[in-house]
Amino acid sequence: MEKEITLELVRVTEAAALMASRYLGRGDKELVDKAASDSMRGMLDYIEMKGTVVLGEGEKDQAPMLYIGEQVGRWDDGDIELDIAVDPIDGTRLVAFGLPNAISVIAATERGGIEYLPTYYSYKLAVGPELAGKLDINATIRENLRVAAAILGMDISELTCVVLNRDRHREIIDEIRKVGARIKLISDGDIAAAIATALPGGDVNLYIGVGGSPEALLAAAALKSLGGEIQIKLWPMDENERLKIAEKGYDVERVYKTNDLIKSDNVIFAATGVTDGDMLSGVRFVKNTAITESIVMRSKTRTIRRIIAQHNMSFKTIPLKSAGEIRYQNGLKRL
Ligand code: FBP
Repeated sequence: MEKEITLELVRVTEAAALMASRYLGRGDKELVDKAASDSMRGMLDYIEMKGTVVLGEGEKDQAPMLYIGEQVGRWDDGDIELDIAVDPIDGTRLVAFGLPNAISVIAATERGGIEYLPTYYSYKLAVGPELAGKLDINATIRENLRVAAAILGMDISELTCVVLNRDRHREIIDEIRKVGARIKLISDGDIAAAIATALPGGDVNLYIGVGGSPEALLAAAALKSLGGEIQIKLWPMDENERLKIAEKGYDVERVYKTNDLIKSDNVIFAATGVTDGDMLSGVRFVKNTAITESIVMRSKTRTIRRIIAQHNMSFKTIPLKSAGEIRYQNGLKRL
């Protein structure tokens, strides 16, 4: 895959983060998502590639843009063919209420590199490089924490698990507390939480619980470069999803690991912080300059780059898909 695409993908998540952050704290999730999707979609068309969205805002009839199967990029002769997975904002509620840990995310692989998951939710277990291949999503929490503590040379009471604060996690939370490990409960944003387990110097050892399936795939794309691991099991939320699993030949008992989710050995992952978080700083506005922090990685080389960008908003143009191909949003003023 062309190296240049790597930086292009950062420009895409930067654009989404910049536009979404304008609606920080306004209490409107839809506005945040719309701004991020529109700018992400607009910026994608600047890239010299034949891109196909394989994971995005939903099926074609559910989303006006970034729907599954949508063609993005220039599509000129000779352009590289890529599958594109996006989450314009992971943590729309976080942005809407000015809370930490919201990011904008994209991943790209060669065609067919990303698995399709038929359920909205998956049960996930993510860990960093030292624990990769050592834990088992089917084992009890007690057993996994015992093994993790032994391998890391830590006392169980020193381990930190991240869990989404949801009623469905009552048993998991109670069990972790009983075993004596520490818990960080998060309100949203489990892509960053899963990745945090594998960041050098991070203080999170395990991410566990039920969250979005698209978020599992995007976390897998990053964990592949970071040497961490995610294991998941499909978590059907109703009878319809159970039927879909059966019809499409999936199995609720199967454990999907990082390489099952991201089948290509060459995946690029990029994310930009929207609000301040453990992984990335959020967008900061200083007069007419906006500062963004992004992370970008390629699994082929396992190079991880952090990019701090200063955007002069008086000169910046962010293409919006909804405004057509040649009309832009310039700075903070609509043209
Ligand atoms: P959105 O940004 O799409 O709202 O997703 C946020 C998120 O917290 C994900 O990170 C997580 O995987 C999922 O929602 C959990 O879903 P739910 O809020 O239904 O428990």
